[in-house]
Amino acid sequence: MLVYLNGDWMPAESARVSAFDRGFIFGDGVYEVIPVYGHRPFREAAHLARLADSMAAVGMVGQQFAIRWPAILARLTDTLRSGDGSLYLQVTRGSAPRQHAFPANAPPTVFAYARPGDPTAGAGFEVAAILCDDIRWGRCDIKTTSLIANVLLVQEALSRGADEALLVRDDRVNEGAVSNVFAVSAGRLLTAPRDRLILGCITRDVVLELAAELGIAVEERAPSRAELVGADEVFITSSGREVAAVTRIDGAPVGSGVPGSVFCRLHTAFQIFKEEVRMGKRV
Ligand code: PDD
Repeated sequence: MLVYLNGDWMPAESARVSAFDRGFIFGDGVYEVIPVYGHRPFREAAHLARLADSMAAVGMVGQQFAIRWPAILARLTDTLRSGDGSLYLQVTRGSAPRQHAFPANAPPTVFAYARPGDPTAGAGFEVAAILCDDIRWGRCDIKTTSLIANVLLVQEALSRGADEALLVRDDRVNEGAVSNVFAVSAGRLLTAPRDRLILGCITRDVVLELAAELGIAVEERAPSRAELVGADEVFITSSGREVAAVTRIDGAPVGSGVPGSVFCRLHTAFQIFKEEVRMGKRV
């Protein structure tokens, strides 16, 4: 596998980063994951805009952070033989003697690679979820590599026989540990608004656009715990899972316990949308 590291291209086995890298020491970094369909990075501009927002939010500003991503992404995409896969991009605040304050002159560490294969391979169409307290910090809108809370939450879900943890804070179900969450009640979608408590997500945006095209009503308000478990349908969205039905929460069936009709309409619309992206008809 060919990877990009700090301006150079090399086999993954040759890529080396300092043990004093702030990504390693502090989790002081930001990242993106971009699905690729038919050699086309999906919503590249939106992903790069979110990366720029994440970098600005953590003070990664200035000339040293001006990275020419489109050329890097084009070369990475070329390495995907089947044309399908995903791109991973990460920027850390570089390597410097350990102290919390930003280092004065450390160049950032910039790393990127392409993972071949269907971006959703292995991801279920139907998932089981658990509800967990949202133990993350207050800036969930920043896509930071400091993911220990998300790691623990996913592991908790797996240890309880589920696939995803849905996160509750002040009786708001904001999002999943690795996804956004939607409840469906009386044919209407309910999902948390874009604020600091969720990641402003690309798949979520596409689903909202498709819902508008299909005439499905949307309320951007986080469901309460009771609204979520009492919903007719629940589904999650992410770059890795696209749109997946949550058919069990804490072991109990959601609605009738099978993927619901609103989910199925959106899932089908998403597959058609993806094919149109592959053919270059839509972005
Ligand atoms: N994460 N919320 C969280 C906390 C996430 O980590 C993700 C995805 C999403 C969905 O975002 P998007 O639709 O833009 O992929 C929501 C990625 C895929 C990851 O960390 O691997």
